[in-house]
Amino acid sequence: MNVHIDDAKRILVANDRGGYTVPTDRLYPFQWNWDSAFVAMAFALYDADRGYRELERLVEGQWADGMIPHIVFHQPSDTYFPGAAVWRTKHTIPTSGITQPPVFAIALRKVHEAAGPDADTRTLPLYEAALKWHRWWYSARDPESTGLVALLHPWESGSDNSPAWDIALARVPMTTDTPVLRKDTGHVNAAMRPRDEDYSRFIHLVDTYAACGWEPAKQWEKAPFKVAEIQTTAILLKAGEDLEHLARELGRGQDAAEIAAFNGLTRQAMLAQWRPALSRFVSRDLVSGEDVEAPTQAGFIPLLSLDLEKSIVDALVDEMKAWSKGLKVAFPTTKPGIAGWEPKRYWRGPAWAIINWLLIDGLRRNDRPDAAEELRRSTVAAIEAEGFAEYFDPVTGEGCGGLGFSWTAAAYMWLTMSTPRL
Ligand code: GLC
Repeated sequence: MNVHIDDAKRILVANDRGGYTVPTDRLYPFQWNWDSAFVAMAFALYDADRGYRELERLVEGQWADGMIPHIVFHQPSDTYFPGAAVWRTKHTIPTSGITQPPVFAIALRKVHEAAGPDADTRTLPLYEAALKWHRWWYSARDPESTGLVALLHPWESGSDNSPAWDIALARVPMTTDTPVLRKDTGHVNAAMRPRDEDYSRFIHLVDTYAACGWEPAKQWEKAPFKVAEIQTTAILLKAGEDLEHLARELGRGQDAAEIAAFNGLTRQAMLAQWRPALSRFVSRDLVSGEDVEAPTQAGFIPLLSLDLEKSIVDALVDEMKAWSKGLKVAFPTTKPGIAGWEPKRYWRGPAWAIINWLLIDGLRRNDRPDAAEELRRSTVAAIEAEGFAEYFDPVTGEGCGGLGFSWTAAAYMWLTMSTPRL
């Protein structure tokens, strides 16, 4: 397939629904939180104004308590389940009731730096929204100030059906008040999607939290699923670094000190999650108190926001190489060969361009431009061979899931237009 930057730009135009970008037509017909942040970073490369717009439209969905929801239902569509009515939230425009990885402030800094002399005025309200959201993360999702933030629903991780949730999710009943009427399997092959039993549990959690009126303290108390998650926390720390930088640029010294304190706490907490025997970082299941040892990509994402000592970086890179050996496309979201490894099923094996983007940035940060470049090439080659698929089968390289996918187009732009080549 002959893929070009202009094709990537065309995907973002085709998925524009009025200042915001849907992940893909029909399968995901609304504005998704971290998808939009990745897309905004691509816009920062050639159209800062449109990058701001993407973030501004997302913030229309921000709740009074600071939470930025994982979906903003700007206009109705009947091609997605669970739609607005299932969530029963009370914001001025319909939204879901859970959140997603906080890539927002990382994107905001990039858009800010790409913008012209009026950047401060346009950045300020978005900066304030981001700060409010970061405060929400620390108060609502880390009430005991451990430095690690917890997820109350697997969808909040962005890695919906990852094996990382298998043990914690098995405790969640499959009973639901809401009938589960899946639409996703009408758009793409069911063998590539989460299973029906996962969906029943996902909706059980939605029903449980809706019954709490989406009130954070009540949800924390009732949550049958509560995982202090390493990937989300790593992203929060990187976003926290960028937010602290913006605070200083905008002359908000007091905010900068507050954010620096969040970052310091989280940095220490993340370092304590390193497990030398696994050569990975781990999440913690807050219901059982145990480490989440399932081998997934999440364990490597701390590269993004920690400056690690060389022995740890070497161990991480060696482990990543071992997982990638013999694959057509790196990096697999689940370790190949383990029970439960499914190279075509969503987050149980496939390679995702945006995850690679985070890993590439992390490898660069930690002085491994060689490993970063290898992964960058693998990702770009996969997209050039198959187009802007949602994700890729790492064994065959086949593009899977939804097609014409916004964040794959964004990753392609970022990995070909912005990166230093070796
Ligand atoms: C799926 C993915 C999630 C993404 C959404 C829209 O739910 O797991 O990460 O944000 O689709 O692309």
